[in-house]
Amino acid sequence: MKPSTDLDPCWQLLCAGESLQEGGLARSFELLHQGRPCRAFALRHQGRVQAYLNRCSHVALELDWLPDRFFDAAGQYLVCAAHGALFLPDTGACIGGPGRGPLVKIPLLERDGIVYWQSGQDFVPAAT
Ligand code: FES
Repeated sequence: MKPSTDLDPCWQLLCAGESLQEGGLARSFELLHQGRPCRAFALRHQGRVQAYLNRCSHVALELDWLPDRFFDAAGQYLVCAAHGALFLPDTGACIGGPGRGPLVKIPLLERDGIVYWQSGQDFVPAAT
């Protein structure tokens, strides 16, 4: 994995693109959201990579029903393990269950086989 050297420093290296398989396991990562430590996850859907905070819009619980598993059985929707809210993988919009809005989306970039997430005012890398 050879990161691009010409990217703006706001782009944070996350993982190899091939590690995110269509409808498969997500890649979890840590960051600060508005100053608070949070977990987030990245996954692939319809060929594109997406990332969200791992925090349901119903109650602020993490969604995964097993570590890094967010998709329903058909690989069509993201499902919250707590009470079954359903979210669209490409937008994070809630389309069923008790969710109260969309998931919080984190900008991602896939370039030369490597996935990066965008830090900024709301999203800051966690201290390592
Ligand atoms: S916490 Fe996610 S559906 Fe209730």
